Amino acid sequence: MQFTVAIDGPAAAGKGTISKAVAARFGFAHLDTGALYRAVGVKGGDPIEAAKTLSPEDLARDDLRSLEAGQAASKVAVIPEVRAALLAFQRDFARAEGGAVLDGRDIGTVICPDADVKLFVTASAEVRAKRRHLEIGGDYDEVLRAVIERDARDAGRADAPMRAAEDAVLIDTSAMSIDEAVAEAAAVIAKKLDVVAR
Ligand code: CDP
Repeated sequence: MQFTVAIDGPAAAGKGTISKAVAARFGFAHLDTGALYRAVGVKGGDPIEAAKTLSPEDLARDDLRSLEAGQAASKVAVIPEVRAALLAFQRDFARAEGGAVLDGRDIGTVICPDADVKLFVTASAEVRAKRRHLEIGGDYDEVLRAVIERDARDAGRADAPMRAAEDAVLIDTSAMSIDEAVAEAAAVIAKKLDVVAR
């Protein structure tokens, strides 16, 4: 069975947590596509070359979740050749036998426009900055500034800008617990799986 779940949304909205949880619940494979851009961003040198030659070791670096890696990722993510170099890997992953969840910015719009389920997960900038601050520490105001700056760059770029697909289900997690957000996402997926199975 092939079944693709596309989860997009701004920085620190809860995409990663929700994606991991629903992948585990339904037995789907999960790809954090942001890690690809983060790995390209921190690798240094020519970002197009880095995207073409990304290795498992690049993706295993322990500094990928830092504030700096997030900023570096969104800078290389505006380069069309970088995005193009990462496209085939993501599309292949989406077709994994047994189902796949991909989270990012352009999964429902560009990578998997035919995804079975599309979710756009969002929350207020302040709530997102608080969550990211809890995750990585540092200065809260700096984290908030970085989140806002990154969202603006991701939504404003010409190639594959961050936006909700027209057929995406919106989940605003501002006032939700993790369990509530996961339950809402899982309910959308379960409903669609039920239809596909008939
Ligand atoms: O975890 P968080 O939401 O903070 O970010 P991420 O998903 O790890 O993505 C890091 C950066 O990579 C984003 O700010 C985007 O610039 C870029 N990205 C992208 O352009 N397209 C994707 N499908 C995923 C990430």
